[in-house]
Amino acid sequence: MAVKKIVTYPAEILEQQCEPVTVFDKKLSKLLNNMYNTMIEYDGVGLAAPQIGVKKQIAIVDIDDETGTIELINPEILETSGEQTGPEGCLSFPGLYGEVTRPYFVKVKAQDRKGKPFILEAEDFLARAIQHEIDHLQGVLFTSKVTRYLEEDELEGLEGE
Ligand code: CO
Repeated sequence: MAVKKIVTYPAEILEQQCEPVTVFDKKLSKLLNNMYNTMIEYDGVGLAAPQIGVKKQIAIVDIDDETGTIELINPEILETSGEQTGPEGCLSFPGLYGEVTRPYFVKVKAQDRKGKPFILEAEDFLARAIQHEIDHLQGVLFTSKVTRYLEEDELEGLEGE
């Protein structure tokens, strides 16, 4: 397992639609393991494949020990509701944080590393992190949704995605 270099903005791959995964093999597992190591190394709560230079619909989210690591392959949002506004950061924008408004609840369909489909419901910060990562797979960056950038004294304890 390895720690990969994070692609930082600006980079073409961060603003492109990613391709669906069709082969669920050892190579995919290795990529997911590398993404996990990279996310942990950089203290993130999520990471999308284009952030390590891979244009595929693969993302991971890990907001705390209780939820564990969620692997989302070919994710698709089925349903959203409510609204939340909160601070967000991104490993591809080191040191940049801003307030983003997103749905409070999300229902997602995705596949696991073996290709098995599953449905996941999430709310609050987990829903925020999942939506941030799914945006990455469509080339959408959080900066396009920021309503207010945060100043340095507002940043304590925030992590990137
Ligand atoms: Co991000």
